[in-house]
Amino acid sequence: MSNETNQQWGGRFSEPTDAFVARFTASVDFDRRLYKQDIQGSIAHARMLEKVGVLTEKERDDIIRGLGEIRIEIERGEFEWSVELEDVHMNIEAALTKKIGITGKKLHTGRSRNDQVATDIRLYMRDEIDLVLSEISRLQHGLLELAEREADTIMPGFTHLQTAQPVTFGHHLMAWFEMLSRDYERFADCRKRVNVMPLGAAALAGTTYPIDRAYTAELLQFDTPAGNSLDAVSDRDFAIEFCAAASVLLMHMTRMSEELVLWTSAQFNFINLPDRFCTGSSIMPQKKNPDVPELVRGKSGRVYGHLMSLLTLMKSQPLAYNKDNQEDKEPLFDAVDTVKGCLRAFADMVPAIEARKDDMREAARRGFSTATDLADYLVRKGVPFRDAHEIVGQSVAYGIKSGKDLSEMTLEELQQFSDTIADDVFDVLTLEGSVAARNHIGGTAPDQVRAAVDRGRELLASRGD
Ligand code: ARG
Repeated sequence: MSNETNQQWGGRFSEPTDAFVARFTASVDFDRRLYKQDIQGSIAHARMLEKVGVLTEKERDDIIRGLGEIRIEIERGEFEWSVELEDVHMNIEAALTKKIGITGKKLHTGRSRNDQVATDIRLYMRDEIDLVLSEISRLQHGLLELAEREADTIMPGFTHLQTAQPVTFGHHLMAWFEMLSRDYERFADCRKRVNVMPLGAAALAGTTYPIDRAYTAELLQFDTPAGNSLDAVSDRDFAIEFCAAASVLLMHMTRMSEELVLWTSAQFNFINLPDRFCTGSSIMPQKKNPDVPELVRGKSGRVYGHLMSLLTLMKSQPLAYNKDNQEDKEPLFDAVDTVKGCLRAFADMVPAIEARKDDMREAARRGFSTATDLADYLVRKGVPFRDAHEIVGQSVAYGIKSGKDLSEMTLEELQQFSDTIADDVFDVLTLEGSVAARNHIGGTAPDQVRAAVDRGRELLASRGD
């Protein structure tokens, strides 16, 4: 044979592939990760070929047995991967032929690596999305637990990172829970479009064999065979969607991370992260660094980058398959690994967060966080809101000068700014009064936090988690 490096298409070629080009175009170093899905897809394909009379029962059984053995060899680390055989598909097919002889060469009947690889990736992503979904749920469980524990804990709520109004820590955590619920939906929705089967599209136009795609789809638990062969082998929009959902998730996790980093600082001192989630400094003995949230914040960059890579990879590609698509795997794999790693770290860490309730409360007290409550009080007594705003502004200016929070001023002091103020004002100036008054769906009142936790539990139960 003239072509020693690529027997699969040697017939048409008059010289072997250049050694560097062979390495440059090979993908086996990274796509071998798909071996399980490749074998799963091949077994279903062989079953289908037998069902429609293209393979005999014996041929089908030999193929299934051979592939089963190959799978074990791969898992034991005994399989010899060869760059000359380019990718996972040809490595496994060549090993099968070596093992069972000529029947191995029949497996590829009515199929191409183009529909094969697209199928492998979808099977892989389906499994990975399921893992991502269950990790999101686990993190959400942790948040519910913590939010319930901290339903009454008062902290300052911020806008512009300036103290705005008191909120409960449980309410803050339930905001994170909401973000993650939408992330869950995005991945679950992405899964619907992933779970469509390319197999049968062959190289691009379909095949002349009497294949039964519905049967293969059923064997592989795909919802349906893809409706157009050209589209099926070429588009990677589902991988782009995954990276988009992953980017939004990571964006949310950077927001959580940023807050955790701030809160663990001596300046905030709102929470303690147990030592097992932190590291020290090799030079400064006093340091305890919140590495996990910092790393998650940093890892967002990769995932955003992979989204850009895949969008750029797909851009302007004419139908149908192009080799560009081989470049889909590394970004996708790394996005999957990164998302799973970040979720795992957070799901382990979140239930272990300890609130420093006194410091949180003190920070809320110091920041005149009940100023809006005083304005609302005046409005209820008939003062127009703009005038109330002015009165409270003057009271705060006085408080800054005299070093007193609004709740620490005497009635006489407060009455300097408005004689509408009476001694019932102290009910609204306390932090507890302020949060308890925001008692409606979505509000920060402790009772509402508990109601939100109940709704969250129902949501997780409806997912079967
Ligand atoms: N390794 C290839 C990929 O990942 C498999 C498909 C190759 N098809 C081809 N016609 N060269 O996309």
